[in-house]
Amino acid sequence: MQYFNSKPYSTQMALEVTYELKTESTIGSVDFDHIQFGRVFADHMFMATYDGAQWIECKIAPYGPLTLSPATSALHYGQSIFEGMKAFKAADGTPLLFRPFDNAARFNRSAQRMCMPEIPESLFVEALERLIWVDRQWIPTKEGSSLYIRPFMFATDDFLGVRPSSRYLFIAWCCPVVAYYSQPLKVKIEEKYARAAPGGVGFTKCAGNYGAAMLPTREAQEEGFDQVLWTDPVDHEFLEETGTTNCFVVAEDRLITPALTDTMLAGITRDSVISLARAQGIKVEERPIRVSELKAWHAAGSLQEMFITGTAATLVNIQGFGHQGKYYALEGTGSHSISSSILDRLDAIRTRQAADPFGWVHPVPAR
Ligand SMILES: Cc1ncc(COP(=O)(O)O)c(C=O)c1O
Repeated sequence: MQYFNSKPYSTQMALEVTYELKTESTIGSVDFDHIQFGRVFADHMFMATYDGAQWIECKIAPYGPLTLSPATSALHYGQSIFEGMKAFKAADGTPLLFRPFDNAARFNRSAQRMCMPEIPESLFVEALERLIWVDRQWIPTKEGSSLYIRPFMFATDDFLGVRPSSRYLFIAWCCPVVAYYSQPLKVKIEEKYARAAPGGVGFTKCAGNYGAAMLPTREAQEEGFDQVLWTDPVDHEFLEETGTTNCFVVAEDRLITPALTDTMLAGITRDSVISLARAQGIKVEERPIRVSELKAWHAAGSLQEMFITGTAATLVNIQGFGHQGKYYALEGTGSHSISSSILDRLDAIRTRQAADPFGWVHPVPAR
């Protein structure tokens, strides 16, 4: 499977989009110093309809409720996929997207596996450009904050019976956010539940993957952990990822992350971290990591750092992990020197405070 595309970052054709703009923004009522993640919504959303043959009726409308039939197919049979991205503001005020064509490509991999129509990458990116431009004053500028973007697609046929829907809705909306996690995490290495199986949908961002992880995550939280660190579904012997992030280990001066399989999501932050680490001369290994190997590094004092990566969280250190009822703390051994240097560089590139040698930053054109 090819995970990251190399297409030039430009939209190819102008979309026909109708605008129904809010007469009065709600931005004045938002306290940007105390935003709760995912609770505050920007003024507008982008919508497009798939009519069984093509994408039509592209529009920007006020963010608001949808009217749906109780028989809406996605609610019963789960054809529902999404993406998560962030927009930042450059010092000169230009809104910036980060690697949006990679999100578009991943969205289409999810669509293909879930038997849903793909969306042209140029439509996906231009939809976001137009939405971000309209709501650009919602991009927060405080350090660590950004405008989170949620593009998603779901089946809208109303019928009873398990078959792919013929009609779908693509919607994107945004919310200003601050850091997803405010402190290093305690993760539980899972040994009972499985997130994904070979041949299944683990590599997609389908809604069901997240619903299925809620009970194991709640149980881990009741035991005092922040997140589940998933393992392979058969023997629970190899590390995979957490519910919403990929995972890295620094041991013996190497940066090691589980190799991608069809049970894991190909994180765009993961790929960015690997590229930045290699550019800094850090030795990177993408390979299976055994839980026993992790515990052996810990016992030998050579487990230097562990961290997770994802769009919402960016990069957050792990302060310890639990396995088979025992807790392994990283405090003392964890130096965070590799993770913090990579995070600083990533943050600087995303906000255009540093040069972007990889061509990741996509300025949003004025519309
Ligand atoms: C299951 C899972 N793994 C990893 C990630 C990290 O991916 P990205 O870095 O593209 O946000 C996410 C978030 O999208 C996720 O939901």
